[in-house]
Formats: sequence, structure tokens, C-alpha cells
Amino acid sequence: MKNEVLDSLLTPKSVAVVGASATPGKIGYSVMKNLIDGGYKGAIYPINPSAEEILGIKCYPSISDVSGSVDAAIITVPSKLVDGVTDEIGRKGVKGMIVITSGFSEVGNRDLELALVKKANSYGTRVLGPNIVGVLSNTDKFNGSFAPFLPLPGKASLVSQSGALLIALDAATYTRRVGFDKLISIGNMSDVDFADIVSWLDNDPNTSCITLYIEGFKDGRAFIDAARKASKPIIALKAGVSAHGAAAAASHTGSLAGAAKVYGAALQQAGVIQATDLDNLFDRTLALSQQPPMKGDNLLIITNGGGVGVLATDAAERSGLPLKFAPADVQLELKKHMPEFGSAKNPVDLTGMAGNDWYGDSVRYSFAHPWTEGLVVLYCETAITDPMQIAQAIKKAVDESGVKDKPITVSFVGGEKSEVAMRWLVENGIPAYGAPDVAVDAISSLREFSRMKALSAQTTEPCAAFDSEAAREVIRKARADGRDSLTEIEAKEVFSAYGMPVTSTELARTEDQAVALAKKIGFPVVMKIVSPDILHKSDAGGVKVNIKDETGVREAFKTIMKNAKEYKATADIHGIAVQEMAPWGTEVILGSVNDPTFGPTIMFGLGGIFVEVLKDVTFRVAPVADTQARRMLDEIRGAPILAGVRGEEARDREALSDVICQYSTMILDLKDEIAESDANPVLVYEHGSGLKVVDARIILKKK
Ligand code: ACO
Repeated sequence: MKNEVLDSLLTPKSVAVVGASATPGKIGYSVMKNLIDGGYKGAIYPINPSAEEILGIKCYPSISDVSGSVDAAIITVPSKLVDGVTDEIGRKGVKGMIVITSGFSEVGNRDLELALVKKANSYGTRVLGPNIVGVLSNTDKFNGSFAPFLPLPGKASLVSQSGALLIALDAATYTRRVGFDKLISIGNMSDVDFADIVSWLDNDPNTSCITLYIEGFKDGRAFIDAARKASKPIIALKAGVSAHGAAAAASHTGSLAGAAKVYGAALQQAGVIQATDLDNLFDRTLALSQQPPMKGDNLLIITNGGGVGVLATDAAERSGLPLKFAPADVQLELKKHMPEFGSAKNPVDLTGMAGNDWYGDSVRYSFAHPWTEGLVVLYCETAITDPMQIAQAIKKAVDESGVKDKPITVSFVGGEKSEVAMRWLVENGIPAYGAPDVAVDAISSLREFSRMKALSAQTTEPCAAFDSEAAREVIRKARADGRDSLTEIEAKEVFSAYGMPVTSTELARTEDQAVALAKKIGFPVVMKIVSPDILHKSDAGGVKVNIKDETGVREAFKTIMKNAKEYKATADIHGIAVQEMAPWGTEVILGSVNDPTFGPTIMFGLGGIFVEVLKDVTFRVAPVADTQARRMLDEIRGAPILAGVRGEEARDREALSDVICQYSTMILDLKDEIAESDANPVLVYEHGSGLKVVDARIILKKK
């Protein structure tokens, strides 16, 4: 969708520099000089009440004095003057403000920032920043920033929350040979945020890969939405992980949901590829910006050295692309381009005798072969070859293969000649790296892109039937009692309202009632204390299991009551829950938090030591589509336990993924009510036999 306001802001046809200065060393001077030196073709209007001209360009005392139209205003006056100039800018009908000025929310001046956005928006003007370096665009030769120069031209565009990092990366584009079209600094994100820019860049014809440096989102869901809709690859480096919320968490899930885990899950759901560090961000950006997605897992590696072939094979395994042998016809053909002692399996080892022709012929044939879905070409610099000629042979073979819809990456391991050859390859659209594992990781990001796009495209319908009103009624009653947590029985009523199978549980207020209920439910039974003041029932001696007869029920009733009173004398005790004793199954835990950035977020893991000790859990932002739920089951370390180990039947993974979807529907539907919740344990039975939520806990939002 076209966004004319952001067009004006990010690709302005005319620009005013409000606070332009003739004094070298000032930011208002740098911006002017950068616009001129960068070769910007649009009109430049320096604004400064006390200058006639700046760097040879006529200066205006106020933007109101400019007769032509102005698309964007770059602000370089101190923060206390920004409010005043915003009125003039708004009245002039300028669509975008690029506010370089610092001194707003980053130093606690939130009100000043809110006032700036409110005023600008009241004129229909959008604000980028404040506290930014500016905007740079190679296509428009627009260096509207105080970064020293335009980046190395290329097809990626970078959006950075850190200004300093943007400046550093600008220079690094030349040393790393990774080209960018735009560098956009977004600083405090008071108005225009990641979501806006991702959507805009997705429609920018000069951007093929969106690269993000993220410290945090203001509205995580808006970002997920924008990223999911984007058709181009998005790669992000997320920094600044804090342990928010964990300390104060009342539920299991709350204490496990660190920001890093939730961000990781949300980015994955949004179809965003994640980089592990700055090197990885650059390396992957290069491949993502130059090559098409890898549509399947068939990766072929061609090498002239066994060692680099093994390193690449290990990397392929690590990246989720374990090598398979090439099919017989491929092997037969490739055998023609290597000596007797070469190997045509995979990696294809042309041996140290390989020259330009063998490289060229094997690349041309195997890249065009329908089995190959991605190709990595490795080369160790030898005395009998010239790296540049090998590079040219590879490029020629790729062109002659006619293939445009499969990716290729290259790694040359050698000295200066190899460096020069790799630079040539990159300039000619083939990503090349100094290490074989990096070339494999880069191509794996193109595989990840197509996998994640397929997954994130799936939207979730709410689970078939749920009774929101019944759940809300339970919550209303608890609130009317002045409580902000539900009892187990109430929590289970809420869970059942969303279709989740819970163990049948009823409340006994007296010993006799407990006996009657146990007889009705059928022995053996479980008995548990019901008190909003006792959340951790086992710790309070409030749980007895496997009670087989009436005598047992009577004894358990007395003991539980006594223990509970000793544990907390003032506890409001509703009675004792008598419930069916569910047969043994694999214990899993489900839970939710209301994440400050992403809202309702669900957690899944195996129960017992897996969660307590190993913290083997995974998260998703609600709602969770069926395929995402199944991915959750697969991505915990304990996944084989659900799949069935040592001759055991597989667990009912289908029922479990259904419950994850239902749970996610519940926390989204009740997002204004539920702060945190757990279903722990949930017992999962053999394939086809379903599962049971045995214990449930819901903590309400304070109102
Ligand atoms: N309209 C236009 N120009 C005006 C007006 C006005 N109403 N009023 C004053 N000016 C002129 C000033 O006279 C001055 O020009 P001069 O050099 O001819 O005198 C010019 O605007 C700038 O004003 P100064 O008061 O000189 O302000 P200075 O240049 O010292 O600082 C700045 C302004 C750069 C915006 C500063 O307040 C600031 O915020 N600096 C930090 C910016 C920053 O680092 N942002 C990115 C963060 S990311 C990172 O860390 C890399």
C-alpha cells in the first residue's frame, strides 16, 4: 500500500534543514554539507534566522519564508526550540520531520516528546525520531544525516534504533562489502516506528532485504503484523535483553518468560530471520539481498578441498540442512569433471586438481539440475589456479545455467588474490565469504526465509466453539468476592469454556460431602485444598492423591484442612476439591503471560525436571496457528519424549497442539482479564487418547 507521507519523509523531493549552520563542526553544518556532497538533486532550503546563505545556498529566516513546497524538514535546533519550529513546519504543510535533536524521552523528557508528536500530527506531519542520525538513500543520493557519507550501494536497507551503530555500520558497509540502499535511524520511535518502516520498505523498489537493529518495540503486535505481511526477507539483530517481569512473576510461566525468549518467539512468528551478532547480520544480509529464497532442503556443495568440504558439511547439519547424496544422474555427470579419486557424492570433491573448466562445468550442470535447490561453491587457493579466473568461471556458469530462482553462495579460502576475487563476485551479485561455514550459514538463511514465510502466512481462526460469556461470569464472581486469582475449580471452568479437557472436579465443604462426591466420581480420587490465598497447594500440604476408599477421604479431609490452617492461619478456605485421579500420562506444562510488548503470550514445555531444572520451554504470541503449535512441540529439547522413545507409543501430539491453539484463544479473548495462567500438569496420553488438564491456575489483572 502506498504511503505518501512516508514517501515524503524517506524519499523527499525537497528538504529544509531547520537549524542549518555555517559553522563547521555543528550538526546543522554537517547535514547541509552531506546533502550537497552526497549529490542530492532535490531542492535544499537552509533555515536559520541569522544567516544569509550557508555553503553557497540561500538561507531563509523561517520555513514560512520558503516559497516552494517542502517534503521533509530535518531538525537540528536544540530541543527547547523544536516546539516553535514544529508550528511553522506544520503550517507550511511539510509531510515529514526528521528530528535529529536529542533531549527527549531518552533523558526522561517524555512530555516534550509527546507534545512534539501531538502537534506535528495535528498538521498531518509524521515524526521520525527524535534523537536520530537521519536518513540516507543511495537511490536519491540523499544524505539527510550527520553520518559521514552514503553507504556502499546495494539492495539491502537498514533500520537502526541506535544512531551510533548506524554511523558505525555506514562505514563498515565499505570494509565488509555489503551494500545498502537506505540507512534509516529511528531513535526514540515517538511516531514512525519499525512497523511503519518495514511496511514502507516492503514496497520500496530499491530494497530487496530489510535489515533491522532492534532494542525494543513500542507495539510488538503492530510489528508482527507488518512483518508477517511483508514479502521481502527481514533480518533482525535484537539487542538489549532485560529480565523484565521475571522477578515479580507469580506463576511458573511468568518466571520463565524472559524478554529474550518472548522476543525470539515473536520474531519467528513474524517470519523474521534472526542474526546472532553484527557479523552474522552483515553476512546474512548479503545473501538475503542478493539471492532468491531456497525453496527446498537439497543443498549441494562443490569443493576442491576435503577439509573445507567437511567444515561446510558440519555447518549444513547445524543449520538444519543436513547433506544428502546427490542423485545417481548428477553423480554420473559430475564424475566427468574430476579425476578418478574425486567424489561426486555430496560434498562434490573436484580435488585440488580442479581448474576453471571443472568448476565451470560442474557448477553449470548441477545448478541447473532440478534436484539442486541451493548451491555452495568452495575453493581453496592453489598454486595451479588463479582465484579471479575461478570466480569468473563460477559466475559464467551460473549465468549460462539460466537459473534465477535458486540461491548460490561461495567461499574462497586463501590470501589477497582470493579476497579480490570474492569482492568481484559480490559486485557481480554472488555472495562470497572467507569461511565455508559462513557461506553455508548464509544460504541457510535463505532456506529459513522461505520456511518461515510459509509458516507465518498461516493465520489462526479462533478455536471452533468457545463460551466467552461463561468464562467471564466465573471471573466476574471472583472479582465480586474481591479476589484477583481464581481457585483451581474456577480456573478449570474457564479452561473448559474454551474446549480444553479438564479432570472433573467438585467442591466439598464438609467431610460427608467429600465422601459423597468421591463415590460419585469413582475411586481413586485426588483431594486438594481450595483457597484463593494458597496458590502453591503442594507446598502447603494441601494435596492428597490416590485415595482409594471412604476412610481415606475422611483422613485426607482432616489432614488437608489442618495443614492449610498451619500454612496460613488467615487463609480464606472455600473447601476441598475432590477430583478424578487421571491415569498416568506424559506431564506437560502450558502457561501464559501478558507480555509488556507483545501482550498475551503462551508457553509450552514438558513438566517436572524439564521445566523446573532445564527450563526447556518455548513461547508464542497468541493467537497460535496449528502449524506453529506443532512447531512448538518440535522445538523443545525434550521433543523426542512426545514423539515416543525406546519403543513407547507416541503421545497425542494432535490433541496437544489443539489445546495450545485453544489456550491461545483463551488468553487473547480474556486479555483484559488474565495476567498469568498455568495448566500444570497436563497429562498427555498415547496417540488418539487425548490429554487432561489436571491442575489449573489463573491470576487476574488487577483492576
Ligand atoms: N530556526 C532555525 N535555526 C535556528 C533557530 C530557528 N528558530 N533558532 C536557532 N537556530 C540556529 C542557531 O542559531 C544555530 O545556527 P548558528 O550556528 O548559525 O548559530 C543552529 O540553529 C543550531 O542551534 P545551536 O543552538 O547552535 O545548537 P547546536 O548546533 O549546538 O545543537 C543539536 C543542536 C545538534 C540539535 C543538539 O541540540 C543535539 O540535540 N545534539 C545531539 C544530536 C544527536 O546526537 N542525535 C542523534 C542521536 S544518535 C547518536 O548518538 C549518534
